[in-house]
Amino acid sequence: MSSRLRYDPVAIALHWAMAAMILGLLVMGFVMTSLKPGSPLQFQLYQNHKSVGIAVLALTLLRLGWRLAHRPPALPDSMAGWERLAAHAGHAALYLLMLAMPLVGWAVVSTSSFNIPTVLFGTIPLPHLPLPRDLNAAAKLLHEGGAWIMIATVIGHAGAALRHHHLLGDDVLRRMLPRFGRE
Ligand code: HEM
Repeated sequence: MSSRLRYDPVAIALHWAMAAMILGLLVMGFVMTSLKPGSPLQFQLYQNHKSVGIAVLALTLLRLGWRLAHRPPALPDSMAGWERLAAHAGHAALYLLMLAMPLVGWAVVSTSSFNIPTVLFGTIPLPHLPLPRDLNAAAKLLHEGGAWIMIATVIGHAGAALRHHHLLGDDVLRRMLPRFGRE
Protein backbone atom coordinates (compact mmCIF):
# COMPACT_ATOMS: atom_id res chain seq x y z
CA MET A 1 0.00 0.00 0.00
CA SER A 2 1.48 3.41 -0.95
CA SER A 3 2.37 5.64 2.04
CA ARG A 4 -0.13 8.26 0.72
CA LEU A 5 -2.93 5.79 1.46
CA ARG A 6 -1.70 5.06 4.99
CA TYR A 7 -1.76 7.01 8.24
CA ASP A 8 1.65 8.44 9.13
CA PRO A 9 3.76 6.72 11.84
CA VAL A 10 3.05 9.40 14.48
CA ALA A 11 -0.74 9.10 13.99
CA ILE A 12 -0.46 5.29 14.17
CA ALA A 13 1.67 5.37 17.34
CA LEU A 14 -0.71 7.84 19.02
CA HIS A 15 -3.76 5.79 17.98
CA TRP A 16 -2.59 2.47 19.47
CA ALA A 17 -0.88 3.92 22.55
CA MET A 18 -4.04 5.86 23.42
CA ALA A 19 -6.31 2.88 22.69
CA ALA A 20 -4.31 0.82 25.23
CA MET A 21 -4.34 3.66 27.79
CA ILE A 22 -8.12 4.20 27.45
CA LEU A 23 -8.88 0.49 27.82
CA GLY A 24 -6.64 0.44 30.90
CA LEU A 25 -8.44 3.50 32.34
CA LEU A 26 -11.87 1.91 31.86
CA VAL A 27 -10.82 -1.33 33.58
CA MET A 28 -8.93 0.51 36.36
CA GLY A 29 -11.90 2.88 36.89
CA PHE A 30 -14.43 0.10 37.42
CA VAL A 31 -12.04 -2.02 39.54
CA MET A 32 -10.86 0.80 41.84
CA THR A 33 -14.39 2.09 42.56
CA SER A 34 -15.50 -1.41 43.58
CA LEU A 35 -12.60 -2.02 46.06
CA LYS A 36 -12.84 -1.60 49.85
CA PRO A 37 -12.71 2.19 50.50
CA GLY A 38 -9.38 3.37 51.92
CA SER A 39 -7.26 0.30 51.09
CA PRO A 40 -3.64 0.98 49.94
CA LEU A 41 -4.37 -0.83 46.63
CA GLN A 42 -7.35 1.42 46.01
CA PHE A 43 -5.28 4.55 46.73
CA GLN A 44 -2.55 3.38 44.32
CA LEU A 45 -5.05 2.56 41.56
CA TYR A 46 -6.67 6.01 41.92
CA GLN A 47 -3.24 7.66 41.59
CA ASN A 48 -2.41 5.54 38.51
CA HIS A 49 -5.84 6.25 37.02
CA LYS A 50 -5.42 10.00 37.46
CA SER A 51 -1.86 9.95 36.02
CA VAL A 52 -2.77 7.95 32.91
CA GLY A 53 -5.99 9.98 32.49
CA ILE A 54 -4.14 13.32 32.48
CA ALA A 55 -1.57 11.80 30.08
CA VAL A 56 -4.53 10.98 27.76
CA LEU A 57 -5.63 14.63 27.97
CA ALA A 58 -2.12 15.86 27.01
CA LEU A 59 -1.81 13.30 24.19
CA THR A 60 -5.29 14.22 22.87
CA LEU A 61 -4.21 17.87 22.53
CA LEU A 62 -1.03 16.73 20.75
CA ARG A 63 -3.05 14.39 18.54
CA LEU A 64 -5.57 17.08 17.57
CA GLY A 65 -2.69 19.40 16.64
CA TRP A 66 -1.07 16.63 14.58
CA ARG A 67 -4.39 15.79 12.93
CA LEU A 68 -4.95 19.41 11.88
CA ALA A 69 -1.48 19.58 10.31
CA HIS A 70 -1.56 16.13 8.63
CA ARG A 71 -4.53 15.23 6.44
CA PRO A 72 -5.58 11.57 6.99
CA PRO A 73 -5.88 9.27 3.93
CA ALA A 74 -9.26 9.56 2.14
CA LEU A 75 -12.04 7.05 2.83
CA PRO A 76 -12.64 4.46 0.07
CA ASP A 77 -14.85 5.71 -2.83
CA SER A 78 -17.07 2.66 -2.29
CA MET A 79 -18.37 4.06 1.03
CA ALA A 80 -21.97 5.37 0.98
CA GLY A 81 -22.90 8.83 2.28
CA TRP A 82 -24.37 7.47 5.52
CA GLU A 83 -21.24 5.39 6.17
CA ARG A 84 -19.01 8.47 5.77
CA LEU A 85 -21.29 10.45 8.08
CA ALA A 86 -21.24 7.64 10.69
CA ALA A 87 -17.42 7.39 10.48
CA HIS A 88 -16.95 11.16 10.95
CA ALA A 89 -19.52 11.33 13.75
CA GLY A 90 -17.84 8.40 15.55
CA HIS A 91 -14.39 9.98 15.28
CA ALA A 92 -15.70 13.36 16.48
CA ALA A 93 -17.41 11.66 19.44
CA LEU A 94 -14.16 9.87 20.35
CA TYR A 95 -12.16 13.15 20.26
CA LEU A 96 -14.83 14.84 22.39
CA LEU A 97 -14.80 11.99 24.94
CA MET A 98 -10.97 11.92 25.05
CA LEU A 99 -11.08 15.61 26.05
CA ALA A 100 -14.18 15.58 28.27
CA MET A 101 -13.51 12.38 30.28
CA PRO A 102 -10.15 13.55 31.74
CA LEU A 103 -11.50 17.07 32.39
CA VAL A 104 -14.58 15.71 34.21
CA GLY A 105 -12.36 13.23 36.14
CA TRP A 106 -10.19 16.18 37.16
CA ALA A 107 -13.37 17.98 38.27
CA VAL A 108 -14.31 14.91 40.40
CA VAL A 109 -11.04 15.03 42.39
CA SER A 110 -11.10 18.84 42.60
CA THR A 111 -14.57 18.92 44.19
CA SER A 112 -14.20 15.88 46.48
CA SER A 113 -14.57 16.50 50.22
CA PHE A 114 -11.67 14.03 50.77
CA ASN A 115 -9.38 16.70 49.22
CA ILE A 116 -6.73 14.11 48.24
CA PRO A 117 -3.72 15.62 46.41
CA THR A 118 -2.91 14.25 42.95
CA VAL A 119 0.77 13.65 42.12
CA LEU A 120 1.06 12.51 38.50
CA PHE A 121 3.32 9.45 38.12
CA GLY A 122 4.52 10.17 41.67
CA THR A 123 6.36 13.34 40.54
CA ILE A 124 4.20 16.16 39.08
CA PRO A 125 1.66 17.73 41.48
CA LEU A 126 -1.69 18.42 39.78
CA PRO A 127 -3.54 21.43 41.26
CA HIS A 128 -7.27 21.21 41.90
CA LEU A 129 -9.56 23.06 39.50
CA PRO A 130 -11.28 26.04 41.18
CA LEU A 131 -14.77 24.47 41.33
CA PRO A 132 -17.41 24.46 44.10
CA ARG A 133 -17.79 21.30 46.25
CA ASP A 134 -21.48 20.92 45.39
CA LEU A 135 -20.56 19.96 41.80
CA ASN A 136 -19.03 16.68 43.04
CA ALA A 137 -22.10 14.44 42.68
CA ALA A 138 -22.85 15.78 39.16
CA ALA A 139 -19.19 15.38 38.09
CA LYS A 140 -19.14 11.75 39.35
CA LEU A 141 -22.36 10.95 37.51
CA LEU A 142 -21.05 12.55 34.31
CA HIS A 143 -17.73 10.66 34.58
CA GLU A 144 -19.47 7.32 35.05
CA GLY A 145 -22.07 8.01 32.32
CA GLY A 146 -19.27 9.21 30.02
CA ALA A 147 -17.42 5.92 30.60
CA TRP A 148 -20.45 3.96 29.37
CA ILE A 149 -20.85 6.23 26.34
CA MET A 150 -17.13 5.75 25.64
CA ILE A 151 -17.49 1.95 25.84
CA ALA A 152 -20.42 2.04 23.36
CA THR A 153 -18.52 4.37 20.98
CA VAL A 154 -15.33 2.27 21.12
CA ILE A 155 -17.33 -0.92 20.41
CA GLY A 156 -18.95 0.79 17.40
CA HIS A 157 -15.57 2.08 16.19
CA ALA A 158 -13.77 -1.28 16.51
CA GLY A 159 -16.79 -3.10 15.04
CA ALA A 160 -16.76 -0.80 11.98
CA ALA A 161 -13.01 -1.38 11.50
CA LEU A 162 -13.52 -5.17 11.65
CA ARG A 163 -16.45 -4.92 9.18
CA HIS A 164 -14.20 -3.07 6.71
CA HIS A 165 -11.47 -5.68 7.11
CA HIS A 166 -13.43 -8.93 7.14
CA LEU A 167 -16.70 -8.20 5.30
CA LEU A 168 -15.87 -5.39 2.86
CA GLY A 169 -12.25 -6.49 2.32
CA ASP A 170 -10.86 -2.92 2.00
CA ASP A 171 -7.73 -1.27 3.50
CA VAL A 172 -9.43 0.87 6.16
CA LEU A 173 -8.09 -1.16 9.12
CA ARG A 174 -4.76 -2.07 7.47
CA ARG A 175 -3.81 1.57 6.91
CA MET A 176 -3.91 2.20 10.68
CA LEU A 177 -1.72 -0.87 11.46
CA PRO A 178 2.02 -0.41 12.08
CA ARG A 179 4.14 -1.63 9.17
CA PHE A 180 7.13 -2.96 11.19
CA GLY A 181 9.48 -2.71 8.20
CA ARG A 182 7.07 -4.37 5.72
CA GLU A 183 6.26 -2.62 2.43
C1 HEM B 1 -10.04 9.02 29.07
C2 HEM B 1 -9.89 9.24 30.37
C3 HEM B 1 -10.63 8.53 31.47
C4 HEM B 1 -11.45 7.41 31.44
C5 HEM B 1 -11.84 6.58 30.22
C6 HEM B 1 -11.90 7.17 32.81
C7 HEM B 1 -12.73 6.12 33.20
C8 HEM B 1 -13.24 5.93 34.48
C9 HEM B 1 -14.16 4.90 34.89
C10 HEM B 1 -14.71 3.79 33.98
C11 HEM B 1 -14.44 5.07 36.20
C12 HEM B 1 -15.41 4.24 37.06
C13 HEM B 1 -16.75 4.95 37.03
C14 HEM B 1 -17.64 4.50 38.18
O1 HEM B 1 -17.99 3.30 38.19
O2 HEM B 1 -17.97 5.33 39.02
C15 HEM B 1 -13.69 6.22 36.66
C16 HEM B 1 -13.72 6.71 37.96
C17 HEM B 1 -12.95 7.79 38.42
N1 HEM B 1 -12.07 8.54 37.66
FE1 HEM B 1 -11.71 8.34 35.67
N2 HEM B 1 -11.35 8.12 33.64
C18 HEM B 1 -10.57 8.98 32.87
C19 HEM B 1 -9.82 10.05 33.32
C20 HEM B 1 -9.73 10.48 34.65
C21 HEM B 1 -8.90 11.58 35.14
C22 HEM B 1 -7.95 12.41 34.28
C23 HEM B 1 -9.12 11.68 36.47
C24 HEM B 1 -8.53 12.64 37.48
C25 HEM B 1 -7.52 13.47 37.29
C26 HEM B 1 -10.09 10.66 36.84
C27 HEM B 1 -10.58 10.46 38.12
C28 HEM B 1 -11.51 9.51 38.49
C29 HEM B 1 -12.05 9.38 39.82
C30 HEM B 1 -11.70 10.22 41.05
C31 HEM B 1 -12.96 8.31 39.79
C32 HEM B 1 -13.84 7.76 40.93
C33 HEM B 1 -15.19 8.46 40.84
C34 HEM B 1 -16.09 8.01 41.96
O3 HEM B 1 -15.60 7.94 43.08
O4 HEM B 1 -17.26 7.79 41.68
N3 HEM B 1 -10.43 9.95 35.71
N4 HEM B 1 -12.97 6.73 35.61
